[in-house]
Amino acid sequence: MTDDGLAGFVSPGAWLGRPFVHRYETASTHDDLRAMAQAGAPHGAMVVADQQTAGRGRLGRAWLSAAGENLAVSVLLRPEAELSVVATLPLVTGLAVADAVDAALGAPRARVKWPNDVRVDGRKVAGVLVEGALRGDALAWLLVGIGVNVRGDDAPEAVRDLATTLRRVAGRDLSRVTVLDALVRALEARYEALFARGFGAARGELRARCDTLGARVTVGDVTGVADDIADDGALVVLTDDGRRVDVRVGDVR
Ligand code: BTN
Repeated sequence: MTDDGLAGFVSPGAWLGRPFVHRYETASTHDDLRAMAQAGAPHGAMVVADQQTAGRGRLGRAWLSAAGENLAVSVLLRPEAELSVVATLPLVTGLAVADAVDAALGAPRARVKWPNDVRVDGRKVAGVLVEGALRGDALAWLLVGIGVNVRGDDAPEAVRDLATTLRRVAGRDLSRVTVLDALVRALEARYEALFARGFGAARGELRARCDTLGARVTVGDVTGVADDIADDGALVVLTDDGRRVDVRVGDVR
């Protein structure tokens, strides 16, 4: 299958991916979208780049991605939902990305590592970075960034043991346009369900698709067995000294 290129992508969404902005090269789609948000861009606006020269990951890390092979996507949200619902949006985004990966692979292979890494066969194929901006005490907007390793045979060398690509796990070439189309559909459906009905249904699905649960984990200074995802999205860890600790940020090891 050939990759048609992302420049002419037409969003299948009713609101997500409208407007759609494509850049061949940029520092970070998140920075571009922040500037658009400050200039009044609407809920659903999307920026996609073929190459980022300063892509950012979670917890202050760099996000490395081969030029023209992968997806680097940022979506602007201006949710009117309660802050408690919005707080679960990073997890729901991971679930939506897992949906899109399954759709692209044609099989239910994607799993979520809490909070929102998407993995196939134990290796990361996509990551999510959510940043918010406040106006006074209220949320002004959210930037949802998603990086998907699509077409390369290998992930960047620095993360090769931990990461993989959709082409590699599928054993065939995949079009970035097809993956982006699936991503827009999945994000829009998951966000609409979240804003209408809250986190409950997504929480149930996430528990079933989260390979962190049941595993022995260390997050920050908490070590134990990951037991559950709480109704606010926290990872519940049963510690070795018998406590139940709700972890809200951090990297699971
Ligand atoms: C992670 O797993 O650490 C999150 C990676 C998020 C990467 C995406 S690519 C599009 C958007 N722009 C960025 O600079 N980062 C996010």
